[in-house]
Amino acid sequence: MSSESINARIDVRLGSLTGEATPRNAIASIETGAVDARTFYLETFGCQMNDHDSEKVAGVLLGRGYRQVETPDAAGVVLYNTCSIREKAASKVFSRLGLFKDKASQEGRIIGVLGCVAQQEGEVIFERAPWVSLVCGSASYRQLPEMISRLEAGERRVTGLDKDVDETFETPVTRRNHPFRAYITIIEGCDKACTYCVVPFTRGPERSRTSASVLEEARRLAEDGYSEIQLLGQTVNSYADPSAARMSFSELLLAVADVPGMKRVRFTTSHPNDFGEDIVRAIETNPVLCDHVHLPVQSGSTKLLRAMKRTYTREEYIEKIALIRGASRAISITSDIIVGFPGETDEDFADTLSLLDVAQYDSAFSFTYSPRPNTAAKDMPDAIPEEEKVRRLAVLQERQREIQTLRNEKCVGREYEVMVDGLRKKDARWLGRTTTNQMIDFASPRTELLGQYLKVRVTRAGPGCMYGEEVVGQAG
Ligand code: SAH
Ligand code: SF4
Ligand code: F3S
Repeated sequence: MSSESINARIDVRLGSLTGEATPRNAIASIETGAVDARTFYLETFGCQMNDHDSEKVAGVLLGRGYRQVETPDAAGVVLYNTCSIREKAASKVFSRLGLFKDKASQEGRIIGVLGCVAQQEGEVIFERAPWVSLVCGSASYRQLPEMISRLEAGERRVTGLDKDVDETFETPVTRRNHPFRAYITIIEGCDKACTYCVVPFTRGPERSRTSASVLEEARRLAEDGYSEIQLLGQTVNSYADPSAARMSFSELLLAVADVPGMKRVRFTTSHPNDFGEDIVRAIETNPVLCDHVHLPVQSGSTKLLRAMKRTYTREEYIEKIALIRGASRAISITSDIIVGFPGETDEDFADTLSLLDVAQYDSAFSFTYSPRPNTAAKDMPDAIPEEEKVRRLAVLQERQREIQTLRNEKCVGREYEVMVDGLRKKDARWLGRTTTNQMIDFASPRTELLGQYLKVRVTRAGPGCMYGEEVVGQAG
């Protein structure tokens, strides 16, 4: 079994910037024939920041009179918004681009690569796939309309690879994928330097939006009927208001939660270093702020944390967990973990396993270490063999599964408010999400529940999901 197939998420909960290489809209072959030049197909890989960027890119194109289509066959402009976090994710785009190998499939089409692979590989993409005409990283999306105009005017190749921008990417129109939940990016890029990570290279330096523009967007969303907002950033809690208001991250959280009409406010991903007591106090103060913190640890060994440049020790991390667990309101905690980082001994790995016991995560995304271009860890000595990484990952996931099973079993018999996310057609069961970001698969005698808030009683629990039934007659 390949490491990536084991790298599947432990559970079905969404809500972390894990950068899974799961494509939204997969396609196996391209049919050729005449296409309408003013149509676009956009496929997105990677994390929620990419999902949200794609919503904005779609908004830009729709604003220019383009129509979105469901398959690349039907599109005049084919765009892949890519992820480069692990090797497997990055190679996906080249297999997609392979669909356009033959001349006929390229005819009359603009083919573009956006996102983190674009930023990382740059013009090399033109060499590997000469039929690509647009390569643009996220820091240059502001220039997208102009780039598209140049292509429309007949230019053969256009790039947007500047990373040193000091603006964030905002658009007048954002075509949101979800009718009730909306993303707001409050900080782009990353100024940390974790030695395994491509993000500082692919998304550029940190840029925060002004608190006023975040609040204005939140108010507009509430007026448009959005009741749940997720504030996004690779290190969301490193937010630094560039305006004179100088709002701290926790003040911004409280201000967004106070926007009339807002029912749930989430935020991800928090970096442990910048995670302070004020955030816990804010969650305690305002029930609109969801009782969930995604606080990736990466490793339970201080030696490895140092090699990863995570800037905290095991003990300091455990203190943050204690701070959150000590809150007057129960707050769920989730994490990301990397196994098989260079130099990881059996003892280091044992430290990570024991950290799981201490932290008692409600869920954890775990990955085998994947060496990435440009990163400091790429050529570090003492690489761990692939089979050993895969073995450790399986051990870790089993331990976490046991923890989740026990935690979830304790929820049986309890009632939770969920926001209804989806309906599974085959067995007519609904999927709802708790404020702690846990999925509950439930039955209801009612129809038309999407986007509603209602109470569900848990009747059964598994490691990744809980099962229940609607508590009829009690609106949430
Ligand atoms: N900004 C977030 C993480 C973004 S990337 C943070 O600091 O926590 C999402 C996750 O992918 C990371 O938390 C890490 O667990 C994993 N990851 C990043 N680079 C990786 C690599 N080279 N190999 C394996 N996993 C990696
Ligand atoms: Fe990557 Fe570290 Fe920045 Fe997260 S904090 S995006 S892991 S460099
Ligand atoms: Fe992937 Fe880029 Fe997000 S590398 S995880 S899409 S920031």
